[in-house]
Amino acid sequence: MRLFQKKNPQTPERPVPAHIAIIMDGNGRWAKKRGLPRTAGHKAGAETFRRIANYAKSIGLKYLTVYAFSTENWKRSEEEVSAIMELLERYLREAIADMDKNQVRFCFFGDLSRLSPQLQQEAALAAERSKKYAGVQVNFCLNYGGRDEILRAARRFARQCVDGQAVPEELTQAQFSDLLYSAGVPDPDLIIRPSGEIRTSNFLLWQSAYSEYYFTDTLWPDFTARDLEKAIASYNHRSRRYGGVKK
Ligand code: IPE
Ligand code: IPE
Ligand code: MG
Repeated sequence: MRLFQKKNPQTPERPVPAHIAIIMDGNGRWAKKRGLPRTAGHKAGAETFRRIANYAKSIGLKYLTVYAFSTENWKRSEEEVSAIMELLERYLREAIADMDKNQVRFCFFGDLSRLSPQLQQEAALAAERSKKYAGVQVNFCLNYGGRDEILRAARRFARQCVDGQAVPEELTQAQFSDLLYSAGVPDPDLIIRPSGEIRTSNFLLWQSAYSEYYFTDTLWPDFTARDLEKAIASYNHRSRRYGGVKK
């Protein structure tokens, strides 16, 4: 099995995994530490994402999946949710305008129907217009929840059965994967969670079955390319056995 996509052109001795996923956590605490409103943390976090996505592209990463807003994040104050949504809109508008410069392919995982029509439109436009780029694919998880994703897939499959297009006993893991938001995307090799929390918070529950995890206390707005390199270096020392025995 091929674990690595290609050699890192900046540090050629270190191979880069094909797919890295990041739980972009710690924005609120970053702001609090500075006596700023939580929204300032989200703004700083958006800048960090911009830098990390560019860096990911420069080292030849194939897929970068980022958790931007969960199905549970609606529990936050109306003020905070609107500020996050505004930042997302602004980010997407700029991403669409700078598309030819950045050459990033955008994909969206999550139930976008609950987002504003404006945000839905921008997401659709970003995905459509960036299809042509062959470099890194950024999977933006928006109103995403792992359980919600699995439940939707189960409902879709049940519907196919009721309609006589599928047979329950014949469902395979590969077919089920194709019913998820991540259809066609290989499972993440490495999942990074900054901010010191050691939990998945409903991120990529199905896809992470054999992912390697990397946790760091660094808060997302402080996360740098160097932190990403450290995570990749840690990944490169792991032995992935998938339940087997290493030869
Ligand atoms: C992550 O940062 C951003 C979102 C969940 C939208 P948080 O806002 O969760 O930051 P902390 O965890 O409160 O520090
Ligand atoms: C996970 O972070 C979701 C995102 C980063 C978008 P949370 O801050 O929502 O997770 P919990 O509440 O600490 O588990
Ligand atoms: Mg958090």
